[in-house]
Amino acid sequence: METRFRASHPLYKILGLCCFVVTVVFLLQRSNISLELGELQSSPRSRILAKPKPQLYYVKTPKCQIPYVDPFNAEVMEIYKPQVLVTCSNESDLVSTEYNEKLKRHILHIDDEVALQLLNFTEAEYNCFYREIKYRSQADTYDNLSAKKYFTDGYVVPQHVEGMVVECQTAEDPKVVLQKDAFVFVQHQPLPKDLQKPRAARKPSVIMYGIDSLSRINLRRTMPKVFSFLQGAGWYEMQGYNKVADNSFPNILAILSGYSERTAREQVCDTNKAGCLDEMPMMWKYFKNASYLTGYAEDESNSNHFSYLKPGFTRKPMDFYFRPMLRALESELDVYRLPEHDYMRYCLGRRMANRYIYDYGRQFAQRFVHERPIWGMFWSNHFSHDDPFMPSAMQDKVLGDLLDFHADGAFEEMIMIFFADHGTRFGKLTRLQEGFLEERLPMMFIYLPPWFRETYPTYVQALELNQHRLSSNFDLHNTLKHIVEIGGTPDGPVLPKSFDCPTCQSLFYPLPVDRTCSQAGIAEHWCTCDPYKKIMGQTWTNTIAESVIDRMNEYFVHKNLSQLCSNLTLNYVHKTEMKTGLDVQWYDELKQVETAVYRIKFKVAENSADFQATVVYNNVTQNADVDVEKISRTNTYKEDSTCIEDKLAKLYCICFSDLKS
Ligand SMILES: *[C@@H]1O[C@H](CO)[C@@H](O)[C@H](O)[C@H]1NC(C)=O
Ligand SMILES: *[C@@H]1O[C@H](CO)[C@@H](O)[C@H](O)[C@H]1NC(C)=O
Ligand SMILES: *[C@@H]1O[C@H](CO)[C@@H](O)[C@H](O)[C@H]1NC(C)=O
Ligand SMILES: *[C@@H]1O[C@H](CO)[C@@H](O)[C@H](O)[C@H]1NC(C)=O
Ligand SMILES: *[C@@H]1O[C@H](CO)[C@@H](O)[C@H](O)[C@H]1NC(C)=O
Ligand SMILES: *[C@@H]1O[C@H](CO)[C@@H](O)[C@H](O)[C@H]1NC(C)=O
Ligand SMILES: *[C@@H]1O[C@H](CO)[C@@H](O)[C@H](O)[C@H]1NC(C)=O
Ligand SMILES: *[C@@H]1O[C@H](CO)[C@@H](O)[C@H](O)[C@H]1NC(C)=O
Repeated sequence: METRFRASHPLYKILGLCCFVVTVVFLLQRSNISLELGELQSSPRSRILAKPKPQLYYVKTPKCQIPYVDPFNAEVMEIYKPQVLVTCSNESDLVSTEYNEKLKRHILHIDDEVALQLLNFTEAEYNCFYREIKYRSQADTYDNLSAKKYFTDGYVVPQHVEGMVVECQTAEDPKVVLQKDAFVFVQHQPLPKDLQKPRAARKPSVIMYGIDSLSRINLRRTMPKVFSFLQGAGWYEMQGYNKVADNSFPNILAILSGYSERTAREQVCDTNKAGCLDEMPMMWKYFKNASYLTGYAEDESNSNHFSYLKPGFTRKPMDFYFRPMLRALESELDVYRLPEHDYMRYCLGRRMANRYIYDYGRQFAQRFVHERPIWGMFWSNHFSHDDPFMPSAMQDKVLGDLLDFHADGAFEEMIMIFFADHGTRFGKLTRLQEGFLEERLPMMFIYLPPWFRETYPTYVQALELNQHRLSSNFDLHNTLKHIVEIGGTPDGPVLPKSFDCPTCQSLFYPLPVDRTCSQAGIAEHWCTCDPYKKIMGQTWTNTIAESVIDRMNEYFVHKNLSQLCSNLTLNYVHKTEMKTGLDVQWYDELKQVETAVYRIKFKVAENSADFQATVVYNNVTQNADVDVEKISRTNTYKEDSTCIEDKLAKLYCICFSDLKS
């Protein structure tokens, strides 16, 4: 899969080299610098002399304080150990591919020495062939593999081939398979005539590199080398970026469409119904209309954003769409799952699943970013979704990807969004003091290439400032729309902004300093701006949980699920916190109040399910006011709600048929 890139023009090599040197120098300089804001503003001299002050807040503005969490604090260090990378194969590649920039074609190479080893140093004859993976039109999958095609070293892959499964076998019976592998190709497309004319403004390309479930805290903990890279010139971290919904789909939908599921249903269509996702005004359509080439890839087909309990697409949604290839890789190659996390496919044949995805993204950028505007999103689920510490094993791979983009000169051209959908939503990290923040603060980094920084200095200043202001998915959506507008004509259409958040805006303009969660489209339950105080050892808080459970049982009645889902009963309360004003200090005594906002985490007796709710509770009437669909489920529910399909209700329903005694 490693595609060697031959830069066509010597200028790119020089640019690439300069970039690399600058980065290395920067990283070296940077390695000992504190990340604390105040420190960065002080003189270089005092930086060396003064002992760095620890960062206390991600955001500290009049109406929002998001505390900074030490990623290596004592509590987490009791459970955290960096993990060792599990490899999928230690064999050398018998077949490899190379992209010939002059021919604009992929070439297959066969390594005789590797063959000799695999033949146990006998002189036996062997053959290699491939079977093409073809897209099936009007569907989300592939056709059967086409007939075997034999090839020899130096074979030039035909331009229509987008993927293949290759095999080398001994020639004599009994045939022994020496090695089986698969390759996916981004094939070059010549620039259409109308794009060859000089344009009004340069259109910035955008590559979105996504890792599922990775919070900014856990990124710092598990991938310090990557984090260090992301401190380089041109990178901006949205430290006040707060997710707007529970799991992947609604958070990604907000970024890519500007809608929540609920308003999409009211305004456009029901995303649970077949055909709706084709109709939604997704971001890639705006890019496409602005003559961008579009690409998209994700691993683990069962968990894909648009297919997990969703109908997926009925038409190919982007120019370069990986899912049919993924379906082929998952069924045509040997699959290996890690014993401790056997839900996701870890190896597809000889490679980790995420290697195919990020390589596809790299190829997409290599092929086009120097010629024409592109937008692409490349996302991996399988190494971070089920184990919050596995990214530590993957960090050299991810860093390698970023360095590859660098080596290709892609960072000279494109904007990169390096991001996650949300943090850890279940398991050991959510049980820590900081669990609430881990869950709600996905990492969000934006890179601006040098030409963009030179052309739009005010956008850069705003982005820099916004690093420490509250922001959300809807702002990112508006930023993407802004990017489309930047490359258009001055009298071009003004694109519609996030429907769900009229007060959201492009991150290239300064965000209000007194912004609140509701102004950023973030519901109270997800908001990390307000301090909460833990209520210790008091039994009256049980009545809060009981009242929340009443609301959940009423919800089952309302949704006509009472025949299928058991009523819930309280087992015990894990933790209760009460919202205090920004002026209340952690050591102040709690005051008696009739009505207050509480965050409560509790366990129900049915299948020991755990929930976390943010509720307005009246301590006199003992009534909790809560939107059930905003309650979080904090342990896995795969085996608890097999009787229903509704993606939201699945979080709360314990099916009678799945009840454990
Ligand atoms: C920089 O950090 C390294 C390792 O973290 C340490 O060994 C070295 O002494 C530090 N240098 C300075 C100048 O602080
Ligand atoms: C590759 O080699 C390492 C180190 O010897 C070993 O731990 C690992 O199991 C091997 N992987 C495979 C897939 O054989
Ligand atoms: C080479 O030896 C290994 C181990 O004995 C065996 O599994 C494999 O089939 C042999 N390869 C060939 C081509 O005979
Ligand atoms: C694929 O192959 C299977 C079994 O050989 C066959 O049943 C099926 O109809 C084929 N599908 C297509 C689309 O050719
Ligand atoms: C893209 O352009 C077509 C043709 O002008 C238009 O009908 C469509 O609404 C546009 N799509 C978006 C998302 O702007
Ligand atoms: C379940 O809860 C609903 C709503 O509170 C209630 O109407 C119903 O009687 C309960 N069912 C059982 C079996 O307790
Ligand atoms: C309610 O659910 C039951 C059983 O699941 C079903 O038979 C009935 O038709 C549903 N009623 C409505 C109004 O949807
Ligand atoms: C709620 O009421 C209980 C007594 O019913 C009391 O002990 C507790 O302090 C009250 N909590 C608040 C925050 O007023």
